[in-house]
Amino acid sequence: MRTLLIGCGDHGGGTLLPAACSAGISIHALVDSDRERAEHLAKLWLIPQVYASTEDVDADTFDGAIVALPVSAQADHVAWALQAGLHTFVEKPPAPDLDGLRTLLQHAGRAGVHCVVGMNFRLAEGVRRLRSALAAPQYGPISYARVEHIARKPVQSFSPDMSLEASLFAAQGIHAIDLAQVLLPAQRVTSGQMIAVNRGRLATLVAGDPAGGTRLEVHFGSCAAAFSHQVRVVTASGDLLELRNMSELLHLPNGGDEHVREYPGARVLWRTSPIGGGYDSAGYGPELAAFGDLVAGGPAESLASLASLLPVYEAFDELLQAEGLAWTA
Ligand SMILES: NC(=O)c1ccc[n+]([C@@H]2O[C@H](COP(=O)([O-])OP(=O)(O)OC[C@H]3O[C@@H](n4cnc5c(N)ncnc54)[C@H](O)[C@@H]3O)[C@@H](O)[C@H]2O)c1
Repeated sequence: MRTLLIGCGDHGGGTLLPAACSAGISIHALVDSDRERAEHLAKLWLIPQVYASTEDVDADTFDGAIVALPVSAQADHVAWALQAGLHTFVEKPPAPDLDGLRTLLQHAGRAGVHCVVGMNFRLAEGVRRLRSALAAPQYGPISYARVEHIARKPVQSFSPDMSLEASLFAAQGIHAIDLAQVLLPAQRVTSGQMIAVNRGRLATLVAGDPAGGTRLEVHFGSCAAAFSHQVRVVTASGDLLELRNMSELLHLPNGGDEHVREYPGARVLWRTSPIGGGYDSAGYGPELAAFGDLVAGGPAESLASLASLLPVYEAFDELLQAEGLAWTA
């Protein structure tokens, strides 16, 4: 796949470019309005072509695009790439609000190419370990899932048009809600609330299916001193699995477990390796590799489509409406 990287800032140039190389996707050209930065990266990574804008690109000479632009510039560039017939990988968030996502979905429906959203937590090593542990028949389906995702930014809106709450969603909430919905899909949002904090924002969402006896809780915020990520699930068997900071997976067995008498405490199922690689453990490498495989005819597996993000945006939209808040400033 002859691939164009659009946006070579901290994430595009610093993370996705090396992650793409590690995933076997070779980048043939860079696009960035900061031409000096793009040229510097092109020299470092032996990339033959640099453009300051997609207006200068002859899209017929490429098959794919990876987009990592400021939140407010993403949707227009995704629409450009799709209209140009390029298989597109766009970093989250593909659009700054629910209406923008719906418009992109229309573009994608007409385009006849793949459009994948970078939701790296889906493929982070700890989440893969959790999901593979949960596939064992002893646990049964998830009855309760709780995702907590609290970082130290944003404390200011990403653009004058966006509310701080929409910026929180773009940076953190989209990941937290998506991961929770991947673990326990099809829950109806029952309530949500912004929680009072003096720095940044903190939000909570609760969803459930009372008839089925399932419940989902999501907490996300930007008030913390450092990144904190916790996932807890309880399955129908009564087993509790907990993924702490993407680095340790614990299992607290149900009370009827045959080994409880021997040892009633929590067992460590997995711990991150001290020599493990960042692109793999954070999910960036496996996600881009899966995008490459998808374009080559492989399965979509855990990849996020634009459509799969619709319930994520809708859940946050409900929270905004309930609180009298808006996507726009
Ligand atoms: N999944 C993750 O873990 C993760 C982490 C960080 C960022 N991101 C996402 O990646 C995207 C980029 O974030 P970043 O931190 O790299 O931002 P950044 O500001 O560091 O980089 C953005 C780059 O885009 C360039 N640019 C801006 N407008 C442009 C245009 N119209 N045409 C060409 N180039 C343009 C800028 O010059 C800059 O180099 C954001 O949408 C963010 O949400 C995802």
